[in-house]
Amino acid sequence: MRPDHPGGGNLLKDAAAFYAAVAPVYDRDYALEPAVTRLQTAWLARRCSPGPVLDLGCGSGRMLAPLARAGFAPAVGLDCVPDMLALSRQACPLAPLVQARAEAGLPFRAASFALVVSLHAALIHLTDVRALLDLLADCRRVLRPGGWLVVEVPHPRSYPPDSPPGRWRDFSPGISCRRVDNGLEELRLDELGGIRTRVRLWEIPLLHDWFHDYRRVELHPGFSGGRFDPDKGLVMVIAARR
Ligand SMILES: C[S@@+](CC[C@H](N)C(=O)[O-])C[C@H]1O[C@@H](n2cnc3c(N)ncnc32)[C@H](O)[C@@H]1O
Repeated sequence: MRPDHPGGGNLLKDAAAFYAAVAPVYDRDYALEPAVTRLQTAWLARRCSPGPVLDLGCGSGRMLAPLARAGFAPAVGLDCVPDMLALSRQACPLAPLVQARAEAGLPFRAASFALVVSLHAALIHLTDVRALLDLLADCRRVLRPGGWLVVEVPHPRSYPPDSPPGRWRDFSPGISCRRVDNGLEELRLDELGGIRTRVRLWEIPLLHDWFHDYRRVELHPGFSGGRFDPDKGLVMVIAARR
């Protein structure tokens, strides 16, 4: 039974405020398992050329040391929340870490990275499409020719159907969701007083436009292999080549 949150809990539209609240419990309750980190690192090592990597929205830094060990070095972490970066610092003491909003203009020279990753849905928090498109263009700028941008977001069908419209539904353990307008979904945590935030749905037909600047775009059903199904899935990986 889900806890009742009279008034629905505090809506934190700003992802930085949301993750500042979540940081103390993030690793315990929301981080991906080490086995997932290993799978993702192996996939990246198979598909992408080694070299410097930028982890956008690096969170508690689970990918930084494994990426560096796999030849993606230096592994630079960027996140907008100081308390999340403090967790990254613990996870990977030597990693270069940058506190910044990804959409504010990446503070790196052109062609600095062989690979840019943004995993575990970090980019769904960019609810403003213009800001998101500017960021995708900026990622292209900081990539070397031939470099890849690899983004992991929920498959749009992993959100349960919006029926009846706007009703809270179970999204994943400890998280419920409801549709709000303009292609946004609201996520609510069971804990922390039911805090809520808004995220953008990455609908498949929009992706051609969003990634039109990239030379090649691939869709994958997660990192385990297999064929992508536009109508079904839990996690979606978009690999775009500069
Ligand atoms: C769900 S966590 C994912 C963490 C990590 N990528 C992983 O795979 O475990 C999302 C992270 O993205 C960060 N984030 C969200 N919006 C951001 C933005 N606009 N700029 C920089 N970081 C952002 C949050 O602070 C949080 O640490």
